[in-house]
Amino acid sequence: MQKTKYFKRHRMELTLRHPLPAAELPEGFRWLAWDDSLLAMHAEVKFLSFHQETDALIFPSLSSRAGCHDLMHAIRYRVNFCPRATWLIAGPDGCVGTIQGLLDENGFGGIQNLGVVPECRGLGLGRALLLQALAGFISVSVPRAFLEVTATNEPAVRMYRAIGFRSHKTIYRAVKLPHPEAVAVGL
Ligand SMILES: CC(C)(COP(=O)(O)OP(=O)(O)OC[C@H]1O[C@@H](n2cnc3c(N)ncnc32)[C@H](O)[C@@H]1OP(=O)(O)O)[C@@H](O)C(=O)NCCC(=O)NCCS
Repeated sequence: MQKTKYFKRHRMELTLRHPLPAAELPEGFRWLAWDDSLLAMHAEVKFLSFHQETDALIFPSLSSRAGCHDLMHAIRYRVNFCPRATWLIAGPDGCVGTIQGLLDENGFGGIQNLGVVPECRGLGLGRALLLQALAGFISVSVPRAFLEVTATNEPAVRMYRAIGFRSHKTIYRAVKLPHPEAVAVGL
């Protein structure tokens, strides 16, 4: 038994023609620029950041390590992958934040899978990752950035708005979820 649920998502956009604040990390954290040897680490941080979130219901790849690895591999080998907008944050005990960038057919920069592991949220790392990726787009002359965010994801929506992103379109993603009664009886 399955039922369809519709998740409201915003496509948000930002022009990159105006200066943005610098991406600053708190003490004890450092940037890791893209390198092919970091693919598995991006996938792991993506998994740890997303697997318990609503986005993992909408995009099932985000709910498993294997799915995150496949997704990261797919992003890396897209012809429009943007390494300059793809970053990890390393902390004292390992990597704790990830972001990736892709270009679309207009040459606009798409932010993908911005995630910070739950135990390191609220420290400014999400904002820093976003600003660092945007600086990467600017460094390769990308004029505009865009992303998609689930409307109920308040921390993310608030962060994007604070940096200047505005909603340009609302999208509804249909997801087939197991019916709660089916789950209760083990179907
Ligand atoms: C969204 C996410 C990346 C934010 O990362 P973070 O490191 O906690 O964010 P920051 O500490 O940099 O906070 C940046 C801004 O986000 C907003 N924010 C962060 N946590 C918030 C919360 N719990 N409630 C409301 N707003 C919040 C605030 O505007 C904050 O700015 P402020 O501190 O000046 O008020 C993180 O919550 C996350 O990884 N979530 C799961 C994955 C996800 O949903 N990613 C977004 C996909 S579109």
